[in-house]
Amino acid sequence: MERLRVGMIGAGGHAQSHFAMIAAEPEVELVAVAEIDPDRLARARQAHGPKHGFTDYRQMLDTCELDMVYVVTMPGHLTPIVLDCLERGLHTSIEKPVGMSSQDARQMLEASARSRGKAIVSVNRRYKPEVLATKRLVLERGGAVHVAATYNKPLTSLGTPEMAGIAPAPIICDAIHHVDLLRWLAGPALETAAHPTEVYAESWQGERPGSVRYDATVLFETGCRGVMMSHYGVGFRIQRAEAHAEDFSAYLDLTGEPKYALYADGKPRQGPLDLDAVGGPDFNETKHFVTCIREDKTPWSSLEDLVKTMEMCEAIAEGVKGAV
Ligand SMILES: NC(=O)c1ccc[n+]([C@@H]2O[C@H](COP(=O)([O-])OP(=O)(O)OC[C@H]3O[C@@H](n4cnc5c(N)ncnc54)[C@H](O)[C@@H]3O)[C@@H](O)[C@H]2O)c1
Repeated sequence: MERLRVGMIGAGGHAQSHFAMIAAEPEVELVAVAEIDPDRLARARQAHGPKHGFTDYRQMLDTCELDMVYVVTMPGHLTPIVLDCLERGLHTSIEKPVGMSSQDARQMLEASARSRGKAIVSVNRRYKPEVLATKRLVLERGGAVHVAATYNKPLTSLGTPEMAGIAPAPIICDAIHHVDLLRWLAGPALETAAHPTEVYAESWQGERPGSVRYDATVLFETGCRGVMMSHYGVGFRIQRAEAHAEDFSAYLDLTGEPKYALYADGKPRQGPLDLDAVGGPDFNETKHFVTCIREDKTPWSSLEDLVKTMEMCEAIAEGVKGAV
């Protein structure tokens, strides 16, 4: 079977992790990169070796006969590019957040409904093998009844002032990772996230510019409850989650390489996680997207599903108290 021809749009910091996943995937071939910054474009071409490079992504789409594109720009630049790719029928990997708002996400969803191409949103926490293997154990115990997530960063690790205008509120731009993870861990099946029905949230500003804080309690349609806390202005970058089924608990630390502690029936659960049962230790969102394209399946993190995550982020940012 011919390899899928891939183009990358945006070759900044985070594109590097996509380049690595593409290089490790035998069924795809990086053909071209588009990046408006000529220096970044030159560095990406040297480091990753695509045959073609462009400063205008449209030239890449016009000339390279691509099957698949990754759009890895900041959210303020993302929507028109994604719409263009979907309208051209390309399989499109969309970096989170899905634009600046749920309205942008819905516009992309409408374009994807008309497109021959599939769309995946790259919410990478969902695809971590440790997260999937943990979720599998939770489901074996009847599913999550209570989930929690924290997503905390010091002000020093926030973006530059130039990001203003191209990045929305931190819960949408950044802490969305653990809003989405909360939905994912509460999900009723390995492949699905839970839908929130009620949100009770507070969002407030600390004294220093950028020190935004969020608290939320969420009721999911499954009956599972979730709590989320995100704080910009803490002492260190820490990203954690918990999932509890009856007599079973999983504590995850996703700050760096995933760490986990599992407990069942009052005791630590011994032994490693069964990563092979969920796609193996190298599983990731690129592998999943390629499978979906080859087997004509809908990606787990579809645009339809991610509209829900964007809406949940907005509800938390707005301090909604009640039905969503
Ligand atoms: N999943 C994660 O863990 C994770 C981590 C970091 C960033 N991100 C996300 O990745 C996205 C990009 O973040 P980043 O840190 O890589 O930003 P970045 O600024 O380093 O890279 C974005 C690149 O896109 C380029 N660009 C903008 N418009 C373009 C256009 N029309 N055509 C071609 N190139 C264009 C910019 O020149 C820049 O080089 C953000 O949405 C961010 O939320 C995700």
